[in-house]
Amino acid sequence: MATILAIETSCDETAVAIVRDRHVCSSVITSQIDTHRPYGGVVPEVASRQHLEIINWEIDQAVEQAELGWDSIDGVAATCAPGLVGALLVGLTAAKSLAVVHQKPFLGVHHLEGHIYASYLSEPELQPPFLSLLVSGGHTSLIHVKSCGVYESIGETRDDAAGEAFDKVARLLNLGYPGGPVIDKLAAMGNPQAYPLPEGRVSLPTGGYHPYDASFSGLKTAVLRLVQKLEQTEEKNSLPIADIAASFQDTIVRALTKRAIAAALDLGLDTIAVGGGVAANRGLRQHLTATGNQHNLRVLFPPLKFCTDNAAMIGCAAADHFHHGHVSDLKLGVNSRLSLARVMDLYV
Ligand code: KG4
Ligand code: ZN
Repeated sequence: MATILAIETSCDETAVAIVRDRHVCSSVITSQIDTHRPYGGVVPEVASRQHLEIINWEIDQAVEQAELGWDSIDGVAATCAPGLVGALLVGLTAAKSLAVVHQKPFLGVHHLEGHIYASYLSEPELQPPFLSLLVSGGHTSLIHVKSCGVYESIGETRDDAAGEAFDKVARLLNLGYPGGPVIDKLAAMGNPQAYPLPEGRVSLPTGGYHPYDASFSGLKTAVLRLVQKLEQTEEKNSLPIADIAASFQDTIVRALTKRAIAAALDLGLDTIAVGGGVAANRGLRQHLTATGNQHNLRVLFPPLKFCTDNAAMIGCAAADHFHHGHVSDLKLGVNSRLSLARVMDLYV
């Protein structure tokens, strides 16, 4: 058993958790969404400052809630890539300081590997190999999870990430930031067949379409054109927002589902584990689960609180690396962009 104190500050959530293998002993999360909302997106400098103001309090809370002393903690981990450099530095520096003061091993964790490990928190029996569908604000990938630290990306978005598409469409509908939760809510009240929208297929030079890659920027532009067209005929404040939201969500959900099912079947994998903020989407949860079941595939979604950014998933990934004897050098720095294929570069 490995007990890890983990810190996540890669974007706009400050989070600290204590995890014992796949069991969450405590998890503290403070979202900065209200601070960034007036700007329509995350302001990096503001994010770093807020992480700094709250991180020590959160560490105390996580230790207190877990009712564990430092004697029981085997290692300290923090997200070190990818993400906002200033924001990552706050969590990484805090983790290194704790590791030095308490004389514990230190582990840097790749943020996307954390999202993959969120599935282990609710499915303690889950073991690789499986297919991971990672859908967050910054990433959309299909990953063949082979073992701890060994990942092969087999499909990506060529432009906007799924969460980014939700956020951009919400902005053009004046629905505020972040867009995913509000579109999800509106979509439940609208007609998904109201407006046909392009799924965004990626052409292959040899003809046909890429089976796993996606492209969502054309979908966003199609929604913009639709809104402009409707505005010519309808009052601005009587736009059929719910129908637009439902049609957009249905298109993106079908695109993700089609690619994930094809990838799992082609690779002979029987499980699809979804991670990242968009895994909270109700339309995706329903459609992918139902379609997966039709193909005898097991589809796993983490509980909602572990879909968006949190430190429990980072601790869970760190615990597994710790078991495999992987620890990081204290000289490890942050990296705003690091591919999942290079996870093992983080360990000595
Ligand atoms: O994983 P996450 O918390 O942060 C990143 O690592 O990016 O994901 C945030 C993204 C945002 O784009 C947000 O709009 C989206 O997840 N999101 C959703 C939902 N909840 C959050 N998208 C669709 N439906 C939701 N219910
Ligand atoms: Zn994330």
